[in-house]
Amino acid sequence: MKIINATLRKTPGLHTVMCEGEHISAITLQSAHVPPQAGDIDAQGQLLIAPFVEPHIHLDAALTAGQPEWNLSGTLFEGIERWAQRKETITHEDTKQRAHTTLRMLAEHGIQHVRTHVDVTDPTLAALRAMIEVREETRHLINLQIVAFPQEDIESYAGGRELMTLAVELGADVVGGIPHFENTREQGVSSIKFLMDLAERTGCLVDVHCDETDDPHSRFLEVLAEEARVRGMGSRVTASHTTAMGSYDNAYCSKLFRLLKASGINFVSCPTESIHLQGRFDTFPKRRGVTRVAELDRAGMNVCFGQDSIKDPWYPLGNGNILRVLDAGLHICHMMGFEDLARSLDLVTDNSARTLDLGERYGIAVGRPANMLVLDAESDYEAVRRQAKARVSIRGGKVLMTRVPERVEFS
Ligand code: FE2
Repeated sequence: MKIINATLRKTPGLHTVMCEGEHISAITLQSAHVPPQAGDIDAQGQLLIAPFVEPHIHLDAALTAGQPEWNLSGTLFEGIERWAQRKETITHEDTKQRAHTTLRMLAEHGIQHVRTHVDVTDPTLAALRAMIEVREETRHLINLQIVAFPQEDIESYAGGRELMTLAVELGADVVGGIPHFENTREQGVSSIKFLMDLAERTGCLVDVHCDETDDPHSRFLEVLAEEARVRGMGSRVTASHTTAMGSYDNAYCSKLFRLLKASGINFVSCPTESIHLQGRFDTFPKRRGVTRVAELDRAGMNVCFGQDSIKDPWYPLGNGNILRVLDAGLHICHMMGFEDLARSLDLVTDNSARTLDLGERYGIAVGRPANMLVLDAESDYEAVRRQAKARVSIRGGKVLMTRVPERVEFS
């Protein structure tokens, strides 16, 4: 396979990218635009990028909004009530079918790497067992990382530790947590020590729902970061949400940032979900309830954007398009300066790949897997401004998907 007339991010000129088998075999700078030969994929000067990444989604709850009732207030708490109703009717096949449908939506938007959290506070681990099957059945479309996510806590839930351990034995890739939701601060701290021990012992990655609240006293991030620093595990650890950081005062945050940087952990922000669910205890002024994305980025830390939900009891919208979340996130996080816009795809590609610890399994470079997208845009700026779609998605050196651009005709 040969892709010609491709613009690569952060590299001037047009390029030809050759693939042999499932890998990229050569990348050459063209001296001029070249005409296509039979079988070539002509990027027509548009961006050829590594696939989009979805670093944080809950596939086990996706596509359940309104079943049996809609969340009328839109709050997290009514979401929990609606989810409890829907949970009663969940079956193995139902979970699998919704996960397959959602993953196809993600793949249609050029996503080829996904990290899903799966609720393991269920004595049968039904959703986890279903998702492990889905991980195998969708390998042609995406690479799926499964997080053992204790939605109803580790320490405050009967058998929570045993269920987390069993989830990892069954094949979860990532150890999760939810320390701010535990009954006491001590249980939150203890849950972090437990989950870090479990990850260190088993070689799993870590991704914790951390301080997903507007409570400025929710300070489990410092505990997670210190555990990661001391154990030298930072690059394998992710703090998701950290929305309380949006309510921390600057004096505490300046001390915290020193630790965060030393720890080397990764951050995921889900700006559409957080702007929707947080700020609910405020009248006016209302907080945005989003972590300090721009500030983490400026301080040289790794931060990326995720969707979190698609049409579930907590968040009724979403369609798999990560550029929609990027657009909203840039607005919400005050990142609309041109320098931010001109490298904005970092937040949904390279930074997310680093969070998923993909290493040399990701990126456009010789020897790496031939997984790529031709985007319908020539720059990051135009991609986000126009909400560009993937024209061609290439996976393992083969065309996975092509899209016919829509055409508008005025009469
Ligand atoms: Fe989440």
